[in-house]
Amino acid sequence: MRKVVWDMDPGIDDALALILALKSPKVRVAGITTVAGNAPVEKASTNARRVLEYLGAANIPVALGAASPLNRPLEDALSYHGSDGLGNCSLPPPKLPLQPLEAWDFLVQSVLDAPDEVTLVATGPLTNVAYAFELQPKLPELLNRLVLMGGAYGLTPYGKGNCTPFAEFNIWQDPEAAHMVFSSGADIFAVGLDVTMDPAACLNSQHLEQIKARHTPAARLAARLVEYQVKYHGCCRMHDPLALAVLLDDSLLDFTLAKVGVVKGNDWDRGVTRILPSDSLQLIHVASAVDGPRFLKLFLSRILKE
Ligand code: RIB
Ligand code: CA
Repeated sequence: MRKVVWDMDPGIDDALALILALKSPKVRVAGITTVAGNAPVEKASTNARRVLEYLGAANIPVALGAASPLNRPLEDALSYHGSDGLGNCSLPPPKLPLQPLEAWDFLVQSVLDAPDEVTLVATGPLTNVAYAFELQPKLPELLNRLVLMGGAYGLTPYGKGNCTPFAEFNIWQDPEAAHMVFSSGADIFAVGLDVTMDPAACLNSQHLEQIKARHTPAARLAARLVEYQVKYHGCCRMHDPLALAVLLDDSLLDFTLAKVGVVKGNDWDRGVTRILPSDSLQLIHVASAVDGPRFLKLFLSRILKE
């Protein structure tokens, strides 16, 4: 059983990853923090609670995080995720309040209360994680590990940008935060576009029909989320569910150890993640391959089960 604390910016694929986690016995989501990214942070926080309450997991605390990246205003992706950030899936508004702690205080407290036990999953910009590491410099070494969705490393033909031609959205949104996290000393597993943009790892209209045939709450919600992406984008990219899948079956993805530099600032190469042989960088695990069909089989089996 992996104890997970999860920083996210729901967002359709964050929500699909959360449904996958809630349907996976090997993972216990002990808490969620939300960060501005796909949606403004208030909307992301509302969305996290909407999904949890709809799936009967309202006991999981949600703490509000950063409303913008460290050094610049937010540039959200509601144009991709729908005006509510969840494909306009018309989930009821949340009833429960947010956790009183701010996200970075919640992250620090969660890890200090359980040293070496917590797997931090980060599927949004790394602003909150950077704040937490700044607040408590011992945090990176007290994590069991950090699994993040982010970056494009040129390890496969898919390892190009999705936000600019060169940079992936989560890193591009807050490259300064990413640079801090990538050089924090944490044991990092980075799942980038190299694997998440592999067409074999994306849901298509046939998969959608399978999900629509089931009438459980999880399948009904997943169907609405996937349908929005298939309708407006031709398929449903599984960026964040692939990051979570690392905890479910570590044979689904291959990783290579590499030193990764993050380009900060606001030039054309903002947010680029480059594999560099630099002595000043730490080694991180970067996803280099994925068994797409086996991942989708796992995802569907979990979403479709009672
Ligand atoms: O580039 C894809 C990533 O950015 C995903 O985590 C998506 O949810 C957005 O946060
Ligand atoms: Ca995300």
